[in-house]
Amino acid sequence: MSLFEIKERIDSLVKELNEHNYKYYVLAQPVISDIEFDKKLAELAALEKEYPEYLDPESPTKKVGGDITREFQTVKHKWPMLSLGNTYSEQELKDFDERVHKAIGDNFEYVCELKFDGLSISLTYENGKLLRAVTRGDGTQGDDVTNNAKTIHSIPKIIKGSGFPESFDIRGEVFMHRAAFEKLNNERIENNEMAYANPRNFASGTLKMQDSSEVAKRPLDCFLYFLYTDQRTYTTHWESLETVKKWGFHVCDHTKLCKNIEDVIEFIHYWDEKRFDLSYDIDGIVIKVNNYDQQEELGFTAKSPRWAISYKYKAQEVETILNEVTYQVGRTGAVTPVANLKPVFLAGTTVKRATLHNANEIKRLDLHIGDTVLVEKGGEIIPKVIAVNTAKRSADAQSVIYPDTCPECGSNLIRKEGEAVHYCPNDEGCPPQIVGKMQHFISRKAMNIEGLGQETIETFYNKGFIEHISDLYTLYEKEDLLKQLDRFGEKSIRNMIEGIEKSKQMPFEKVLFGLGIRYVGETVAKKLAAHFKDIDSLMNASFDELISADEIGERIAESLIEYFNEPRHREQIEILRNHGLQFETSGSATVLNSNKLEGKSFIISGVFEKYSRDELKDLIETNGGKILSSISAKLNYLVAGDNMGPSKLEKAVKLQIPVISDEDLMSMLQ
Ligand code: IVH
Repeated sequence: MSLFEIKERIDSLVKELNEHNYKYYVLAQPVISDIEFDKKLAELAALEKEYPEYLDPESPTKKVGGDITREFQTVKHKWPMLSLGNTYSEQELKDFDERVHKAIGDNFEYVCELKFDGLSISLTYENGKLLRAVTRGDGTQGDDVTNNAKTIHSIPKIIKGSGFPESFDIRGEVFMHRAAFEKLNNERIENNEMAYANPRNFASGTLKMQDSSEVAKRPLDCFLYFLYTDQRTYTTHWESLETVKKWGFHVCDHTKLCKNIEDVIEFIHYWDEKRFDLSYDIDGIVIKVNNYDQQEELGFTAKSPRWAISYKYKAQEVETILNEVTYQVGRTGAVTPVANLKPVFLAGTTVKRATLHNANEIKRLDLHIGDTVLVEKGGEIIPKVIAVNTAKRSADAQSVIYPDTCPECGSNLIRKEGEAVHYCPNDEGCPPQIVGKMQHFISRKAMNIEGLGQETIETFYNKGFIEHISDLYTLYEKEDLLKQLDRFGEKSIRNMIEGIEKSKQMPFEKVLFGLGIRYVGETVAKKLAAHFKDIDSLMNASFDELISADEIGERIAESLIEYFNEPRHREQIEILRNHGLQFETSGSATVLNSNKLEGKSFIISGVFEKYSRDELKDLIETNGGKILSSISAKLNYLVAGDNMGPSKLEKAVKLQIPVISDEDLMSMLQ
């Protein structure tokens, strides 16, 4: 490579790796495997070593990955949160062991721990009480997520026992058990909410939520694995773990004191097999020199301690045959290709199907029917096809061609710019979409219609009794036809009709969720109902007004606009409204604390350091004020936080509406 090419390679690696770090730490949506990442990082480090003149201060080799999200208060870590060096082979481990021997001699022990696949957290305790919980962030400073951490049962709010230092930090990993992940994620899929790829992303997404009451609904757990304090009274890490257990911290039992690297390797082999029996994911083993003085002697590099290292397990993979690719059409029209495989045993289960994600993935793999494919089960619950063994491909193998048309209804598929997923646009005539939408509407989490089941919806649709959600509300007119169906006695028909009638009392947020608008899951529907109050305000809201609502992002706003732009949808809503369904929130829920803000109207916009938008909104409403959904001459105050949309501010200034801060609002309440 010429010098010019070397500089170009360094620049492009820095850019790419920083982007991956952002996706991993901030978005919790990594797009490459840890191994691939580490390979690239090693390449960059080697180039930088040889050509230090091209070193970029932004290089990921110089900082721990991560970034700070805006909504939480940023807190500096008293002890930086470092990462660990990774190893992937016994040889690399032995090299580490040799370095340790060289530095501190032969008289030392290791502590082996599981490497939990979650996100790290730093807890600060003062006088026995949990003061603060902070995410890793960029290693130097992170997000204050204390309120969210307090909802985690295994994090003690008050320390048990006695003898603890007046002030200390304890570090650990927040994670979600696999069973909870699967249950909650399946619910999300059912509810048309974004599914998480693995428990780690779910845990990370949860801990970074703005609304702690939502966090409390998702069971997170936390293992603690390192104590930091100025008032140290223990000589070893092992001793500190034993001690913190007594204070009420959750320390993993699968921890072992090892005399030498051979014992360490034995521990690693044992857990490589047994890790699938654990109720949570681990992605390796962490090895730490036990004695604190020896740790100090070994010291740190810029990024990680020299006294600890991690051994990363390879994702489990196996070869099998691709029999067929089928395409599933979901209720929103999203088409998902599925690899149907010759059954094969992998990481504890028999795998028959694997996801292929989308058309890009099929193209990337250059997939052919009958191919020998490599299937991997890593952090993700659903196995995926990661590679094709082309050497084993027969000469006449047919390549897999992603269909242009919907496998269910024949419509031309569409793919929006920048999106990887194909959609069938025929939501009016594509059977799985029509049936799926009605099934969603009646489901427990939506309208919870008693006496009507998912299969019945399919039967009714096939018989031509129902085609739209609104047809459910005229089913009673078809009673005679229904009676002719097998298994449909008078009593069950009566129950069903009663159930349908009762659903007219379901609150607006449930109806909104039941409509099945893309990206409008249960939580989003709740937020929208609370913010806009009625369907007309929501239907007529502009893009800016939509994104000003708490937790409503651009993708959701676009989807809502697209949905309501469709006359068919508005017509359905009108019919449902005429049937008596609830299309506005019942205002009776607000209990007044005072009437200090009576007659005054507000809009809240932007991000606030101390409060969430919902908290401010509650405060206004419980003191008699009103929240408006858009800026008009009627508005009295605009409460502005950071990063407010410029168009909003401009409009407020033009209309001479006072722009106030959250502090101003508080003083109005004094
Ligand atoms: S000790 C300075 N112990 O792995 C030592 N880390 O790459 C700091 N992790 O950020 C970490 N299980 O999120 C340690 N038993 C364990 C761990 C563990 C998981 C994570 C942690 C850390 C990352 C290091």
